[in-house]
Amino acid sequence: EQVMDHFMNPRNMGEIENASGVGTVGNAKCGDIMRIYIKVENGVITDVKFKTFGCGAAIATSSKATELVMGKTLDEALAITNKMVTESLGGLPAVKLHCSVLAEEALHEAIKNYKERLGAGEISA
Ligand code: FES
Repeated sequence: EQVMDHFMNPRNMGEIENASGVGTVGNAKCGDIMRIYIKVENGVITDVKFKTFGCGAAIATSSKATELVMGKTLDEALAITNKMVTESLGGLPAVKLHCSVLAEEALHEAIKNYKERLGAGEISA
Protein backbone atom coordinates (compact mmCIF):
# COMPACT_ATOMS: atom_id res chain seq x y z
CA GLU A 1 0.00 0.00 0.00
CA GLN A 2 2.75 2.43 1.01
CA VAL A 3 4.78 1.37 -2.02
CA MET A 4 1.82 2.14 -4.29
CA ASP A 5 1.23 5.46 -2.54
CA HIS A 6 4.82 6.58 -3.07
CA PHE A 7 4.72 5.29 -6.64
CA MET A 8 1.49 7.12 -7.50
CA ASN A 9 2.34 10.27 -5.53
CA PRO A 10 6.13 10.49 -5.42
CA ARG A 11 7.54 13.00 -2.93
CA ASN A 12 10.41 15.27 -3.90
CA MET A 13 10.53 14.39 -7.58
CA GLY A 14 12.40 16.85 -9.78
CA GLU A 15 15.73 18.61 -9.68
CA ILE A 16 17.42 21.30 -7.60
CA GLU A 17 18.97 24.25 -9.34
CA ASN A 18 22.36 25.06 -7.82
CA ALA A 19 22.39 21.76 -5.95
CA SER A 20 25.26 21.23 -3.49
CA GLY A 21 25.76 17.71 -4.79
CA VAL A 22 24.43 15.44 -7.53
CA GLY A 23 24.71 11.67 -7.71
CA THR A 24 23.84 9.50 -10.69
CA VAL A 25 23.90 5.72 -10.70
CA GLY A 26 22.76 3.00 -13.04
CA ASN A 27 21.36 -0.38 -12.18
CA ALA A 28 23.35 -3.09 -13.90
CA LYS A 29 20.48 -5.56 -13.69
CA CYS A 30 17.83 -3.58 -15.53
CA GLY A 31 19.67 -0.58 -17.00
CA ASP A 32 17.55 1.91 -15.09
CA ILE A 33 19.06 5.20 -13.98
CA MET A 34 18.64 7.30 -10.87
CA ARG A 35 19.80 10.83 -10.11
CA ILE A 36 19.60 12.52 -6.72
CA TYR A 37 20.18 16.21 -5.99
CA ILE A 38 20.94 17.48 -2.51
CA LYS A 39 21.13 20.94 -1.00
CA VAL A 40 23.41 21.07 2.04
CA GLU A 41 23.51 23.92 4.53
CA ASN A 42 25.70 23.78 7.66
CA GLY A 43 26.16 20.04 7.24
CA VAL A 44 22.43 19.36 7.05
CA ILE A 45 20.43 18.24 4.03
CA THR A 46 17.89 21.01 3.62
CA ASP A 47 16.49 19.87 0.28
CA VAL A 48 16.61 16.69 -1.76
CA LYS A 49 15.05 15.75 -5.07
CA PHE A 50 15.29 12.78 -7.39
CA LYS A 51 14.74 11.86 -11.01
CA THR A 52 14.68 8.37 -12.37
CA PHE A 53 14.27 6.38 -15.52
CA GLY A 54 13.24 3.45 -13.41
CA CYS A 55 10.45 1.14 -12.42
CA GLY A 56 7.72 1.70 -9.86
CA ALA A 57 9.74 0.19 -7.04
CA ALA A 58 12.65 2.50 -7.83
CA ILE A 59 10.32 5.50 -7.78
CA ALA A 60 8.68 4.44 -4.51
CA THR A 61 11.96 3.72 -2.71
CA SER A 62 13.54 6.98 -3.91
CA SER A 63 10.51 8.91 -2.82
CA LYS A 64 10.70 7.33 0.63
CA ALA A 65 14.47 7.77 0.83
CA THR A 66 14.19 11.51 0.11
CA GLU A 67 11.64 11.80 2.92
CA LEU A 68 13.95 9.97 5.31
CA VAL A 69 17.06 12.08 4.60
CA MET A 70 15.40 15.49 4.62
CA GLY A 71 16.72 17.53 7.54
CA LYS A 72 19.36 14.94 8.41
CA THR A 73 23.09 15.53 8.83
CA LEU A 74 25.33 13.99 6.16
CA ASP A 75 26.44 11.24 8.55
CA GLU A 76 22.85 10.44 9.47
CA ALA A 77 21.93 10.34 5.79
CA LEU A 78 24.84 8.02 5.00
CA ALA A 79 23.61 5.63 7.69
CA ILE A 80 20.25 5.17 5.95
CA THR A 81 20.26 1.88 4.07
CA ASN A 82 18.03 0.50 1.35
CA LYS A 83 16.86 -2.02 3.95
CA MET A 84 15.60 0.77 6.20
CA VAL A 85 13.88 2.37 3.22
CA THR A 86 12.12 -0.81 2.12
CA GLU A 87 11.17 -1.63 5.71
CA SER A 88 9.60 1.76 6.19
CA LEU A 89 7.61 1.11 3.01
CA GLY A 90 6.34 -2.14 4.50
CA GLY A 91 8.62 -4.35 2.37
CA LEU A 92 9.16 -5.10 -1.32
CA PRO A 93 8.96 -8.34 -3.29
CA ALA A 94 12.38 -10.02 -3.42
CA VAL A 95 12.68 -9.54 -7.19
CA LYS A 96 12.35 -5.79 -6.66
CA LEU A 97 14.94 -5.41 -3.91
CA HIS A 98 17.69 -4.45 -6.35
CA CYS A 99 15.60 -1.41 -7.32
CA SER A 100 15.78 -0.07 -3.78
CA VAL A 101 19.59 -0.06 -3.92
CA LEU A 102 19.52 2.69 -6.55
CA ALA A 103 18.30 5.36 -4.14
CA GLU A 104 20.90 4.49 -1.52
CA GLU A 105 23.73 4.48 -4.06
CA ALA A 106 22.64 7.71 -5.73
CA LEU A 107 22.39 9.43 -2.35
CA HIS A 108 25.88 8.27 -1.40
CA GLU A 109 27.18 9.56 -4.75
CA ALA A 110 25.49 12.93 -4.21
CA ILE A 111 27.09 13.28 -0.76
CA LYS A 112 30.47 12.26 -2.20
CA ASN A 113 30.04 14.83 -4.97
CA TYR A 114 29.20 17.49 -2.39
CA LYS A 115 32.32 16.69 -0.34
CA GLU A 116 34.51 16.74 -3.44
CA ARG A 117 33.15 20.09 -4.56
CA LEU A 118 33.56 21.47 -1.05
CA GLY A 119 37.15 20.20 -0.95
CA ALA A 120 37.86 21.75 -4.35
CA GLY A 121 36.51 25.09 -3.13
CA GLU A 122 33.72 25.11 -5.73
CA ILE A 123 31.08 25.63 -3.09
CA SER A 124 31.03 26.78 0.52
CA ALA A 125 29.61 24.84 3.44
FE1 FES B 1 15.08 -1.29 -12.78
FE2 FES B 1 13.51 -1.59 -10.75
S1 FES B 1 13.55 -2.78 -12.55
S2 FES B 1 15.09 -0.15 -10.99
